[in-house]
Amino acid sequence: MSDPVTTEDRALELFVHALNVCHGYDFSGYARASLKRRAEQLAADLGEPGIGHLIPRLIYDPSVLGQVIARLSVPVSEMFRDPEVFAVLREQVLPVLSSYPRVNIWQAGCAQGEEVYSTAILAEEAGLLPRCRFYATDINDQALARASEGIFAARRIEEFAANYEGAGGQFDFADYYRSRYDLMRMRRTLRDRVVFAHHNLVTDGVFAETHLIMCRNVLIYFSQALKERVLQLFADSLVRGGYLVLGTRETLQFSSLANRFEAVSDRHRIYRLKRARPAHDV
Ligand SMILES: C[S@@+](CC[C@H](N)C(=O)[O-])C[C@H]1O[C@@H](n2cnc3c(N)ncnc32)[C@H](O)[C@@H]1O
Repeated sequence: MSDPVTTEDRALELFVHALNVCHGYDFSGYARASLKRRAEQLAADLGEPGIGHLIPRLIYDPSVLGQVIARLSVPVSEMFRDPEVFAVLREQVLPVLSSYPRVNIWQAGCAQGEEVYSTAILAEEAGLLPRCRFYATDINDQALARASEGIFAARRIEEFAANYEGAGGQFDFADYYRSRYDLMRMRRTLRDRVVFAHHNLVTDGVFAETHLIMCRNVLIYFSQALKERVLQLFADSLVRGGYLVLGTRETLQFSSLANRFEAVSDRHRIYRLKRARPAHDV
């Protein structure tokens, strides 16, 4: 009798392959433990008894794709998540960005937009917003659609406002949204600065020259090889002296790209692309 865990592991590999062949989404570089958990949840959502049963759905039912990507990606976020990180951005990064006539900020893996609106608020308070263009990208189209509306549940206001304060916010957080019934909507002045777009870090390339890249809590889902690819993409996208911000559980430490960056705050995972390439790298 075959081991049921091994069977599901094999089914997962076939499912990952089918997703790529049928729809061009390559999840082969994602860490397996969490991918397997999410594929199992997807099977349960779709009333299928196991991961292998998802494969015919991928082949014969194209309408299922949105649900598959929504389940496999984890669009969970908060405004000013890890407030201290935003406090360091406010104090040490935005003053430097203020010296540029135009500032491009790429929020990679933006989920439903919580972080990009947080960064836009920082830019507003640094007097930088009119010079900024934000590119917020993700593979989850459902999350992107919600992000571009800038609408969140009003029950999250308390959490967002507390994080804003923790990030050194000096004003009333309520200045940045309008609330109606059980929803809040970010102000148009913030929404208008953001271009939301589908971009896959696994397969897509550089699309803009950027001064700051925020990519937090995305690389944790990737294998080391895939992390390397994505970090290379970021190094290629940043201007010299541009900033990269990773999630608090993500690091440059084990990457071959580590010598291209210097730490602004290692603890907060804020790095800066060195102005000159290391000699042996050129
Ligand atoms: C946990 S959320 C992180 C959201 C936000 N950056 C934060 O830290 O709060 C991870 C996001 O990465 C996105 N993602 C996963 N794989 C991706 C890929 N290959 N390319 C772009 N985005 C991806 C998911 O869809 C999800 O919205």
